[in-house]
Amino acid sequence: MTLLPAAGTPPAAAGPIPEVDLATTLAGVEFPNPVFTASGCAAAGQELGQFFDVAELGGLVTKSILLEPRAGRPTPRMAETPSGMLNSIGLQGPGIGAFLDRDLPWLASRGARAVVSIAGGRVEDYAELAGRLRGQPAVALLEVNISCPNVEDRGAVFACDPTAAAAVVAAVRCAAPPGVPVFAKLSPDVTDIVAVARACVEAGAGGLSMINTLLGMAVDTTTLRPVLAGVTGGLSGPAIRPVAVRCVWQVHAALPEVPILGMGGIRTGLDALEFLLAGASAVSVGTAIFGDPSAPVRVLAELRTALVERGISRLADVVGLAHRPPAPPHLTGPEPPGAADADSEGT
Ligand code: DHB
Repeated sequence: MTLLPAAGTPPAAAGPIPEVDLATTLAGVEFPNPVFTASGCAAAGQELGQFFDVAELGGLVTKSILLEPRAGRPTPRMAETPSGMLNSIGLQGPGIGAFLDRDLPWLASRGARAVVSIAGGRVEDYAELAGRLRGQPAVALLEVNISCPNVEDRGAVFACDPTAAAAVVAAVRCAAPPGVPVFAKLSPDVTDIVAVARACVEAGAGGLSMINTLLGMAVDTTTLRPVLAGVTGGLSGPAIRPVAVRCVWQVHAALPEVPILGMGGIRTGLDALEFLLAGASAVSVGTAIFGDPSAPVRVLAELRTALVERGISRLADVVGLAHRPPAPPHLTGPEPPGAADADSEGT
């Protein structure tokens, strides 16, 4: 019987493991590697500290922080779906005060690069939150959640309208710590995601996080009622990966200079590579954390192996690679007959 190496194990080649430069830059900020957590899947990171060293990741993205503490929606607020899950948490959290007093110092003490996600009901809420993050050196990036699906009024999803999205981004950019890039988190539930992306960039977003969950719903055929107390919820997990890859592809094609933090159903290193090839400069692992809290570090190890196996020594070389014309067949397929002779004669 042939035993396959475990996922993430480098190929059993002779000699030392090949070096791979995994560093990535997002809007001028350097990260040692491209694997982040996704917002909403591990509060502010402490709960992951028992499974791995949070400083090993490129960055740790917090659950969206609001101005005030919030208890969230009634239960049930999570449901399993085919290849994914629905959630309707309702932005539960401690509020910015407790986050600054307790959570951000913990992240700083561990050497984590914090990506702070903020959310609010009004443009002014976002601006105030951004202002409260001034003078906090642990904040590497700000992610503006303008696409939470669990708001009472769907008209309040800023990311569903380019003008509304731009208004939030402009206010946050103005109030935020000057050296800290602002990433807008976009919703896939729009007709033209490129239009929203462009509006956010023109308003001052240094990059884009995509995608947030899709609005979904499940009905319980035993109780004959909606499964979630909040009725609708955000769909995440592998079921949404093709939608996310498509969004990253479309936005990278239209705005190739804009860095993208890609997410949506990433479970393995190859899933991460798919996003990078489509145009993401870094990726977030989210729903996979619920089943495997170490998933982000495993994805990172698997990504490194995948790059080694493909003879790629710099992560930056794969960003957007799938947009380039196909390589000539003699570089990808079996060597054409006689090619080795021709090469050895230098012709
Ligand atoms: C919630 C927020 C989100 O941005 C999301 O995608 C799903 C759920 C929430 O807190 O309800």
